[in-house]
Amino acid sequence: MYAKFHSIGAFVPSKVLSNADLEKMVDTSDEWILKRTGIKERRIASENEVTSDMATIASKIAIKRAGLEKEDIDLVVCATVTPDYFNMPSTACVISDKLGIKNVQAFDISAACSGFVYALSVAKAFIESGMKKHVLIIGAEKFSSLVDYTDRSTCILFGDGAGSAVISATEDKNEAIIDIHASADGSYADFLVTPAPGAVHPVSQKVIDEGLNFVQMKGNETFKLAVRTLTKDVKEILAKNKIDAKDIPHFVPHQANYRIIKAVGDALKMTEEQVVLTVGKYGNTSAASIPMAINDIYESGRLKKGELMLLDTFGGGLTWASALLPFAGESL
Ligand code: UT7
Repeated sequence: MYAKFHSIGAFVPSKVLSNADLEKMVDTSDEWILKRTGIKERRIASENEVTSDMATIASKIAIKRAGLEKEDIDLVVCATVTPDYFNMPSTACVISDKLGIKNVQAFDISAACSGFVYALSVAKAFIESGMKKHVLIIGAEKFSSLVDYTDRSTCILFGDGAGSAVISATEDKNEAIIDIHASADGSYADFLVTPAPGAVHPVSQKVIDEGLNFVQMKGNETFKLAVRTLTKDVKEILAKNKIDAKDIPHFVPHQANYRIIKAVGDALKMTEEQVVLTVGKYGNTSAASIPMAINDIYESGRLKKGELMLLDTFGGGLTWASALLPFAGESL
């Protein structure tokens, strides 16, 4: 039994936070943000719109596009670092309930921006082992809930959104996910960290006073490591599977920073047409970034059945992952 990438769906909140808006909030400029990151604007969820709400909408679309009913789903995996609750119930349980999916295994994955590709590897393993047939995987973030909007080094980067995919069993090797590399190095944990709340820093006045509940990032160090690691990783997965970068119509990188994407794309000698870019309009949406980008090319009619995708991602942990797979859903 093989696993296939059966369908995609996504949701973005309607509220736009532009660079001009951020100029009024912190000491920054549209010119600096655009030049250093490629981001023009990002979406921000409203106060009563939480991670599971966005994920539920994206998931309904993905299930419908797979031609399935909610009763067909036998595993729900949600990748997020902005769960509805720290840390019970899992957001996957909340999403399952909102979708009306009963009595199936549901759990979250915490791998920051690499979460969606990690979830893809879990779905692939469950399906190939014969344990599950249709796995709903989700990358969803209300990242604005972790951001200190007085910290210019992080608040310009992140946005909110959700993307979902159904991964299904198939006997046809031609439509199977080809390969996934997922890895981590915890010695770089302090590069990207939300110190509280957790066992290290339970909620306290100190947490509030020192803003330990907000995301902290060693941006420049993370940037350099991301370029090095991703370039090596994508070259390895292509070489291992004897696929040339020029034969990949859709390179779908994590949308953290245009300059990281460009550096990795250039190292692979990719053309502009091959590289999927949504960072300008959505910013960095962490685990949601890759499924939102896949949905973007799907809805614009660029992603056709059978076409190869190369996914690559890098995030807190530190974690990184890449995947090589054909799109096995029906073209729009
Ligand atoms: O998704 C998970 C993985 N995340 C990433 O991969 C993110 C990786 N990092 C980045 O994308 C980039 O490092 C940033 C966009 C965060 C920062 O860009 P940079 O080119 O690495 O800038 P920097 O941190 O080295 O800062 C350069 C200067 C500093 O000023 P001085 O010390 O040179 O005077 C900063 O204080 O830019 C300043 N700066 C800003 N200026 C205007 C930092 N943030 C801003 C800002 N507006 N928002």
